[in-house]
Amino acid sequence: GPDSYKIPSFEGYTKDDSSVETDKSKVFSYFMLGASGAVLASAAQSSVHGFLVNLAASADVLAVSKAEIDLSSIPLGESITIKWRGKPVFIRHRTEHEIQVSEAVPMSELIDPQPDSDRVQIPEWLIVVGVCTHLGCVPIKDAGDYGAYYCPCHGSHYDFSGRIRKGPAPLNLEVPQYNIDGNIATIG
Ligand code: FES
Repeated sequence: GPDSYKIPSFEGYTKDDSSVETDKSKVFSYFMLGASGAVLASAAQSSVHGFLVNLAASADVLAVSKAEIDLSSIPLGESITIKWRGKPVFIRHRTEHEIQVSEAVPMSELIDPQPDSDRVQIPEWLIVVGVCTHLGCVPIKDAGDYGAYYCPCHGSHYDFSGRIRKGPAPLNLEVPQYNIDGNIATIG
């Protein structure tokens, strides 16, 4: 019957000013909604941040991040391999001849042009990460067309400055951070 069209009274539940100032109440509602969104966003940010920090190196990993080598134990013309941060590092005691040929290469002949002087601190000592810049194999010392390092995986040839000269590798062997003090080289 017609009785079902009668709207029940909500007087006890509505705000007193709802008929006139609807904007005011909307501003309040949206403000509350926005504020809870902001809290969520910052909670999400801090938990993502915490997760990424967990993926970063832990204290025991950072503890072995430096390596010390006594250079006087490496004979002239020898390249030794040490392990640093889980990677091989080549340390070569370069001969006068190896220094001269490295310095004489014109930049135009290089795939990744870099003067030898930018890659060594002391000409006698070449220190490079022994990881081929192609797909990460470990090059062999005293091998290849340039006599220094040769990567057997796909045939990349590196010179006495650790620069890529021939083959698929796009970049020179990486020079790690290091410091030489007297006979002691500290890598890292
Ligand atoms: S990984 Fe060294 S040539 Fe491919």
